[in-house]
Amino acid sequence: MDLLNLEDIAEAMNLLEICWQFRSARVLMAGHQLGIFEALRTPKSSKQLAQECKTDHQMTERLLIACCSLGIAERQGDKFALTNLGQNLLLPESPRFIGGILGHYENLWWFWTGLAEVVRTGRRDAAPSAPKEFEERWHEFWIWAMHGIAANGVGQWLAENLDLSDRNLLLDVGGGPGTYSIILCQKFPNLKAVIWDLPKTLAIAEQIVKRFGMEERITLQQGDWNKDEFGLGYDCLLMSNILHGPNSQADMKLKKAYRAMKPNGLLIVHDFLLNDEKTGPSPAALFNLMVGSYSVSEMLDVIEKSGFRDARLVAYHQKRGAGLITAFRP
Ligand SMILES: C[S@@+](CC[C@H](N)C(=O)[O-])C[C@H]1O[C@@H](n2cnc3c(N)ncnc32)[C@H](O)[C@@H]1O
Repeated sequence: MDLLNLEDIAEAMNLLEICWQFRSARVLMAGHQLGIFEALRTPKSSKQLAQECKTDHQMTERLLIACCSLGIAERQGDKFALTNLGQNLLLPESPRFIGGILGHYENLWWFWTGLAEVVRTGRRDAAPSAPKEFEERWHEFWIWAMHGIAANGVGQWLAENLDLSDRNLLLDVGGGPGTYSIILCQKFPNLKAVIWDLPKTLAIAEQIVKRFGMEERITLQQGDWNKDEFGLGYDCLLMSNILHGPNSQADMKLKKAYRAMKPNGLLIVHDFLLNDEKTGPSPAALFNLMVGSYSVSEMLDVIEKSGFRDARLVAYHQKRGAGLITAFRP
C-alpha cells in the first residue's frame, strides 16, 4: 500500500478525532465536579485554585490550560479567569447554567460505556450504573439539562422558526423546565402558556418560570399522560422531545393533543428526527441508539394519522439532528 497517497486521509483524520472527543467532555465534567468553575468566579492562580478545590496543583494547571483551549477560561497575568462564555454557562447563578447538562451527561456516560454489552444483549440494564451520587439526582439533572439545552441555542432556534403572533394560549405538554414556553412568551407578547407535566418536574419548572419573571403569563398544570386528558381550549400545543420514536406512545399523546385543541389549532412538534433513508444525521442516529427516533416522514405520518392536517417540516437543525414540525387541528 502506498501510504503517501491516500484518498480518504481527511475523513480518516476526522474519524480519529471523533474517537478522542470524549476528552473535552470529561474536562468540562471534571472541572464542574471539582468546583473549579465556581472557584474561578474571581481570577486565581492555579496554586490558589488547587488549594481551594483540594486538588493537585500541577494537574489543576493542566486542566485549566485545557479549559482555556475550550474557550471557557483565559489567562490574566499569572491567574486564570472564566471567559464570558464560561461565566454564562458554568456559574449556577447564570440563567444559562449548564450544570444540569454536565450532571445528566455523567449519568448517560455509563450507558455509552456499556454500549457493547447493551447491543450484545438488547438490554439497557446491561450497562453499568452511574455513581450513586449522580444516579440519585437523575431526575433533577435531566430536567435542568433540558433547560440548559433550550436556553443555549435550541429555544432561540425554535422561536426564530415559529410565528405564534396570532395565538393566545399554548399548552406545553411534558414541558419539563418550561424554557421553550418562556422563550416563546418572550417573543410573542400576546401569548400565555401552560406547562403540563408531572409534579416532580413542575417543582423545577416553577423555579425557572419565577427566575425569568414569567409567573403572570405561564401557569403550571399537573398531569400524567398515562391517565389524564390534557384539558381543553388551546389554540396551540407544543410537544417537544416527548415523541421519541415508535416506543414513545406518540399515537396516544397526539390523540389527547387533538382533543385539547380548538379547531384550527397549531400543533408544534420538536424532536430528534432521522433522515428518511435512516442513515443519519449523526446526532439523531446517536439519540436513536440511546432512546429512539422517528424519521421525518414517519413522524409526519404519525401526526396525520392522529387526525391533524398539513403536517410539514418547517425547519431542520442539522447540527442537532432535530426537526420542527407544524400541523393543524381541523
Ligand atoms: C425529554 S423531557 C422534555 C422536556 C421539554 N419538553 C423539552 O423539550 O425540553 C420529557 C418530559 O416529559 C415529562 N413526562 C414524563 N412522563 C410523563 C407523564 N407520564 N406525564 C406527563 N409528563 C411526563 C418529564 O417530566 C419531562 O419533563
